[in-house]
Amino acid sequence: MNLPIRPRRNRRSLAIRAMVRETTLSPNDLILPVFFHEDAEDTPIASMPGCTRWSIESLVREVAEVHALGVPAVVLFPKIEEVLKNPTADESFNDEGLVPRVIRALKEAMPSLCVITDVALDPYNSDGHDGIVRRNERGEMTILNDETVEVLCKQALSHARAGADIVAPSDMMDGRISAIRSALDAEGFTDVSIMSYTAKYASAFYGPFRGALDSAPKDGDKKTYQMDPGNSREAIRETFLDEAEGADMLMVKPAGPYLDIILKVRESSQLPVAAYQVSGEYLMLKSASSAGWLDERAIVLESLTGIKRAGADMILTYFAKSAAQWLSGK
Ligand code: PBG
Repeated sequence: MNLPIRPRRNRRSLAIRAMVRETTLSPNDLILPVFFHEDAEDTPIASMPGCTRWSIESLVREVAEVHALGVPAVVLFPKIEEVLKNPTADESFNDEGLVPRVIRALKEAMPSLCVITDVALDPYNSDGHDGIVRRNERGEMTILNDETVEVLCKQALSHARAGADIVAPSDMMDGRISAIRSALDAEGFTDVSIMSYTAKYASAFYGPFRGALDSAPKDGDKKTYQMDPGNSREAIRETFLDEAEGADMLMVKPAGPYLDIILKVRESSQLPVAAYQVSGEYLMLKSASSAGWLDERAIVLESLTGIKRAGADMILTYFAKSAAQWLSGK
């Protein structure tokens, strides 16, 4: 064939492929979501094989290992005891609650670790919703926006006081970014960043996570606050709002089935973009590889590369520890 242009020349050897590769993954891109509880025992999470709900002590040990592999940050997900839950989620802003104690323990052991906290009411709310629920006489539910935002501000403040570096509101209430920014600034926490869950979809991929924390909504679903999976322009609208309200970083969630949204958010803002490879994505890859149907290392690194290639600067993933080990040849 008379073929002067042959793209395969750029794929010819390992060395050439390494030079022309556009997207590379590093442990520095990864953020590990962690589960923990008040108990002294560690509990394997049935809905997420390979993940554990740690005691505080074990959590500090595990995070130290992961941080030593080059993973800069963790996001905290507490399992709150049932007796501490109530309709107004008061435990969410208890300065002596589980999350503030864990923040202090992690920062004390690892000052260089970036501690990110999830800001939402679902682990603390007896209704299992991210916001405060009101029911009318017919039993129909409304998730109250402005009342919820007030509690979210108190929650963010209690995390900041304990030493959180970044607060990450995952509740999807309107106006929470500006409200949290003002609340933090008013108490002098001008250095605490906000990573906004900008485009968080009402997704069936969160199922295994709710099992890990016993945080599933007692009734109804989250469709009046989380986004409709059919929408993409709406993600841009949320991007503009979060940027105007003072978010430091944006997030898209889930990640794998929403790569187009990651790209659009990336192109609509100059802010760093995070993507969350959620529990259902983890479970699909993990269960298929545990069954021997997929090569775990190859499939995980490829899925993370795809998320980064779409435009994510950082990726929240339950595979952070394994991926960091694979990437650093350990
Ligand atoms: C709660 C929250 C959820 C996740 C992160 N924060 C669950 C939900 O919104 O129902 C899901 C994470 C995952 O599935 O891995 N606000």
